[in-house]
Amino acid sequence: MAWLLPIAGVLALLVFMGWFIRYRRLKRSAQPGATVVLRDVASTKRAAAAKAVVESAKLVEVKKRTNSAPALLRGQVSADTSKKFEAWVADFPPLSPTARLIWGEVHSPNTNPKRLTEILSRDPIMTAKLLRMANSAFAAQQTEVTATERAVLLLGYDCILTLAYHETMGGAKRAQPGGYNETVLLRHNVATGLFAGALCRRMGRPNSAEAVTAGVIHDIGKQVMSYSKPELVCELLDYHTTKLGEPLLRKEERLFGASHAVIGAMLAEEWKLPATLAKAVELHHQPVSSTLADYPANIRELACIVFVANQLTKFVKWPGHDMEIDLPAPGLLASMKLPETYEEILKLVEPEVRILLSAFPT
Ligand SMILES: [Fe+2]
Ligand SMILES: [Fe+2]
Repeated sequence: MAWLLPIAGVLALLVFMGWFIRYRRLKRSAQPGATVVLRDVASTKRAAAAKAVVESAKLVEVKKRTNSAPALLRGQVSADTSKKFEAWVADFPPLSPTARLIWGEVHSPNTNPKRLTEILSRDPIMTAKLLRMANSAFAAQQTEVTATERAVLLLGYDCILTLAYHETMGGAKRAQPGGYNETVLLRHNVATGLFAGALCRRMGRPNSAEAVTAGVIHDIGKQVMSYSKPELVCELLDYHTTKLGEPLLRKEERLFGASHAVIGAMLAEEWKLPATLAKAVELHHQPVSSTLADYPANIRELACIVFVANQLTKFVKWPGHDMEIDLPAPGLLASMKLPETYEEILKLVEPEVRILLSAFPT
């Protein structure tokens, strides 16, 4: 029987090496920006289709859907965790008065550029940034843009609304080291807000302000996490502490008790934004599942726009810490009257978003 021992040893070594190689590959794929991982792929057939959809992306892994859902919704969060998050959002800086006034103005049925200009002129820092942006985005114009109203007309409401939230979120910086890279996070949020506006226009939606706002604040929960627990965010982003095959949302749940979507929704409520916006933030990772079917049509539509805008931002590899691309549920893009793939949608909306994003302050 002694002759069996070397064979068993070799077999054990081969199994271990196979496991180790796969482990290393998955660890590498967990590094932000290193790869694109598709999540929530239910079948092998769909996985093959997924590979075709994202051929241009650096696809390395198509993960099968797991049955246990993370605590993405507030109803699934324990009372203690909920209390902890309430304290975090109360500690986070309030929404700026200018952002609140602009939000009210763009939602008014009688809104006009003159009134928006008046609001802006009470905030000299914002006005200066707006003029700089207009001159940067429209550098080809023969004359310099010096009047706020002209900047408003050139940049459009979506861009101004995005800038207003950008200013509030940009001010939420803590002296403590660690946490997310604020610049990267802000640019990701701005791009998602601008994509949300561009998608609304493609869908023929008359008012894009709600979608733009939901887009620009969709990952605000990450900022709250970063603000309150920068050391935990460092652990979240450290791929050495990621379990084998663990998606970022699940790791958030393990470390924080719930996802950034839940915390973001709580902050939206703290800021007294409409309930539809808070819900869209809470659901922005949900449209891949059937959970969304239980919600009213307006919330569903808003959550879907933010979901697609977020995936487009990641697809073009504009900054972000989460580079996992979620595929749309079957029929989702068609129901939104959008082309069938992210690539085709990008051909329509990316140019306008690219111009505006390049003009945003960093
Ligand atoms: Fe997110
Ligand atoms: Fe995002």
